[in-house]
Amino acid sequence: MHTVLEHPLVKHRIAMMRDRETPPKLFRELVDEVTAFLAYEALRDIRTRTVEVATPIAKTTGELLDEHIVLVPILRAGIGMLRAMLDVLPFAKVGVLGMQRNEETAEPIPYYVKVPPAKGHELAIVIDPMLATGGSACDAVAQLSRLGYRRIKFLCLVAAPEGLEKFEREHPDVPVFTAAKDERLNSHFYIVPGLGDAGDRIFGTL
Ligand code: PRP
Ligand code: URA
Repeated sequence: MHTVLEHPLVKHRIAMMRDRETPPKLFRELVDEVTAFLAYEALRDIRTRTVEVATPIAKTTGELLDEHIVLVPILRAGIGMLRAMLDVLPFAKVGVLGMQRNEETAEPIPYYVKVPPAKGHELAIVIDPMLATGGSACDAVAQLSRLGYRRIKFLCLVAAPEGLEKFEREHPDVPVFTAAKDERLNSHFYIVPGLGDAGDRIFGTL
């Protein structure tokens, strides 16, 4: 199952990010803003508990978040989405998965794993700006499943139809939230029209 954020505030920011003249500082700010919108949509169903609250006027009840959340950025570009996620989930734990695409085949090459031990009840939220062939996303979720994570969501900024199809085939129980669903992949496995190399644009390494 995947959800595409259909909202003018999101579309506006994605259009600015697509512009190749957008410099890294602005690009990072736009990543922050779009990530916050993604979090809003993806976290609609997270658990809360009811508490009593005394306002200056009266006693009432309210809802507080009641989840053990582990944010899992895929290195390196996923780091670009981490600050905005931690802003809305300041109590979340963070684990990282290092993954590098082979430039010719686009096969993901895992190179680092540092994820908190799973007890099974945690909600793991994998973040990576780009879902292209879907190789990195599928491998990340497979690694988390092997480590004992049972509840996983995947958040990205731009997804290609080919990658979404692969991901949904391999991980039908993991919902994907994306700010844009693009046209296709090119012969180098880049998303068209896409954003270019998201990691390079976030970290200024073009
Ligand atoms: C990019 C991106 C994803 C992956 C998506 O990372 O951030 O992790 O490619 O492509 P896929 O769906 O075909 O696997 P990249 O390997 O370029 O590394 P980087 O984050 O270090 O720039
Ligand atoms: N990684 C990126 O950063 N961009 C793409 O279009 C595909 C993979």
